[in-house]
Amino acid sequence: MSETAAPPVSKAAADGQAVNPLRAGLESDRITDPCTMVFFGASGDLFKRMLLPALYNLRLTDILPSGFAIVGYSRTKFTDQEFRDYCKQSVDQFSRSGPAKEPMWSDFADRISYITGEFTDTSDYNQLKTKVAENDDKFGTKGNVLFYLSTPPQVFPTIIREIKSFGLDPKSNTKGWTRIIIEKPFGTDLDSARSLQAEVEKVFDESQVYRIDHYLGKEPVQDIMALRFANMIFEPIWNRRYIDGVQITAAETLGVEQRGGYYDHAGALRDMIQNHVMNLLALVAMEPPASADADAIRNEKYKVLSAVRPFGTEDVAQRSARGQYGPGVIDGQAVVGYRQEQDVAPDSNTETYAAVKLYVDNWRWAGIPFYLRSGKRLARKVSEIAVRFAPIPQRLFGERTDEIEPNVLVMKIQPDEGVTLRFNAKVPGPKNHIRGVNMDFNYGTGFGIESAPAYERLIGDAIRGDATLFTRWDAVQRAWEIVMPVLDVWLNTKDSTFPNYAAGSQGPPTSDHLLGVDGHAWRRI
Ligand code: BG6
Repeated sequence: MSETAAPPVSKAAADGQAVNPLRAGLESDRITDPCTMVFFGASGDLFKRMLLPALYNLRLTDILPSGFAIVGYSRTKFTDQEFRDYCKQSVDQFSRSGPAKEPMWSDFADRISYITGEFTDTSDYNQLKTKVAENDDKFGTKGNVLFYLSTPPQVFPTIIREIKSFGLDPKSNTKGWTRIIIEKPFGTDLDSARSLQAEVEKVFDESQVYRIDHYLGKEPVQDIMALRFANMIFEPIWNRRYIDGVQITAAETLGVEQRGGYYDHAGALRDMIQNHVMNLLALVAMEPPASADADAIRNEKYKVLSAVRPFGTEDVAQRSARGQYGPGVIDGQAVVGYRQEQDVAPDSNTETYAAVKLYVDNWRWAGIPFYLRSGKRLARKVSEIAVRFAPIPQRLFGERTDEIEPNVLVMKIQPDEGVTLRFNAKVPGPKNHIRGVNMDFNYGTGFGIESAPAYERLIGDAIRGDATLFTRWDAVQRAWEIVMPVLDVWLNTKDSTFPNYAAGSQGPPTSDHLLGVDGHAWRRI
């Protein structure tokens, strides 16, 4: 007889409901610390669409304890009540759990307040200081304060300085912790990222800084480490002997929408590759960490980036490709080209598609190409990592015309969330025909649970003090160092072929050479 203790009975089982066996016996999610959260830029789009619905759902699922308060701080004029109404609209419209529910909403709304304030040269921060102290008395937030910067990045340094000059910094807080979440972009190039970091360091210790990269909050991105390090079968073949190339794709069908003003000064390399895609590279190529501790993991991620072979100006052309979309068709609808978008220069040289070929020069990966690409207005929205294995050493099976495909393991991040393994199988029948087939796992149907949006997970983690899914300064800096030579060449040379791909297509054909020379081809988007 087995001596293993029976797993604890879940509430669903006790209530007589069917329990998904994959979720039986799981402990509930960890509760966060009490705190006041201050959102700079609270009248902006991110707060309305993502941050406030995430907070509401954290409370609804009991991850946020009752000892919390939310303070919005922005230039737009709102009274407390107007801001609460605005927040309610945001929940009604964007919450994953549907419109705000009573009595939860009223209790939640009581903890929301608003300060109409300037960011610079102002005593409005005095009001904020008073509000944080009041919240502490009224809601029992234990002196803990979480700042969230979701303003335009130009004002990040000012806000950080003012936090200190008004005594809201961690050193002045003798009662609890003070942390800061900083939205991307962290700088617009290496120099500006370093200047921002210099300001951050004057006020916050690295352990108090949470640089957000929302890709890291996506469940399938967290699953990359679980797949690699909670299984025995992948690790022995996860190296240059068995893998001959890795493709990382973050493709979107959206154009620049209302963000032309920002995007025309950013471009795909800065907007996606330097942060989201580089984080995926680090997760797929890292060594097993010594523990699951945030810094043990982030040390290994940094080591990958530090082993990436630098670009020389001369090899930018061979190892990178850029594109810009022209008019085309997305989901059956005609759409305009990038240069016709709102707030975009009619002769813009900004890339809406970027691809780079990187090498991680270490023992595990020497000589193996990592192809990274991201673009807007492509054929399909898809983010995935495809690991292609080496060809078989000797062909035994398959009729003459059969192609023996390489094995491919695809980690699907969105819109499908799952893992697919492509392998070869014999077609039933007397002949020896071989065909590639798929073995699929889908997280949603497998576990019978919907993944929480990335911001929900990340805000919860910051309140708990878990920095695993946030980017450390050394990695941000290194990612900028990697892309800078490409950025410099692209900024200084006008691409006369732009626009060079139609909206709704696979991207610019000029990016095919990156892989063609290695005998690889882009996966179809
Ligand atoms: C953001 C970029 O960081 O990520 C946007 O600034 C992009 O341009 C977005 O559209 C993509 O995120 P997601 O979660 O839709 O893949």
